[in-house]
Amino acid sequence: MTNTVLLCPPIFFDVTYSINPWMQGDKVDKAIAMDQWFKLKYGIEAWGVEVKLIGQEPRLPDMVFTANAGTVRGNKVVLSNFKHPERQLETDVYERWFKAAGYETHRLPRKINFEGCGDTVIMGDKMFAGYGWRSDLGGIRRAAKILGLELIPLKLNHPNFYHLDTCFCLLGQQSAMYYPGAFSPSAIKKLKKHIPELIPLDVHDATMFACNSVVHDGRILMPAGAQKIVEELDIRGYEVTQINTSEFLKSGGSLQCMTLWI
Ligand code: ARG
Repeated sequence: MTNTVLLCPPIFFDVTYSINPWMQGDKVDKAIAMDQWFKLKYGIEAWGVEVKLIGQEPRLPDMVFTANAGTVRGNKVVLSNFKHPERQLETDVYERWFKAAGYETHRLPRKINFEGCGDTVIMGDKMFAGYGWRSDLGGIRRAAKILGLELIPLKLNHPNFYHLDTCFCLLGQQSAMYYPGAFSPSAIKKLKKHIPELIPLDVHDATMFACNSVVHDGRILMPAGAQKIVEELDIRGYEVTQINTSEFLKSGGSLQCMTLWI
């Protein structure tokens, strides 16, 4: 895990189209959204993590979800190829930012879908990657190869948990929480094989987007509303802070979606 994140202030955040089951057209309160985003930013800064910012383009309301920009390892970044046309222009904006920041940027062939850290989590020299809704198997395979990582492909089964970061959250080198209802049986077997301490969430906590937490060194910023998992993490010694992300949930995203470790 690095000590720097990329965030995008939600100046033009809105729900103007629907590309996942959570996007029902509920009106976004922009002032509340900004306040919620600042709580995420201050929470991360309080850990001593450096926050870098990218400016949002007016016509790209989902750009706030920086986790979807790509997957970063060291100086290399594999940029996303968004599945939905509504988000495809984000790639050029992110590419410019990464180039200007001195990264070696990689783009995948246009026909292959890949949504960056929405669907990928790096643990040591392994990359856990979700596929089936947004990223293709071909996309995660190529990304793992470029980044020099062993791929653990995980088939996602449930439309509400369309990105890996909505149903899986690494807590350390040995432990993670996950929502079993989001994965194929073979994906669950792989998770059990690679992660000694795998904590399952119930459907309530999963629906509160508890897996979309930002984790750093035993401390967790978690979307508000989860219950059982908060107690369980507390018992295990994690320090959990809950943040209300009501406005971003209207877009099917929350804290981790808005955070890219770079
Ligand atoms: N509205 C966005 C979309 O459907 C939400 C993205 C959430 N990001 C994430 N990393 N899960 O693309």
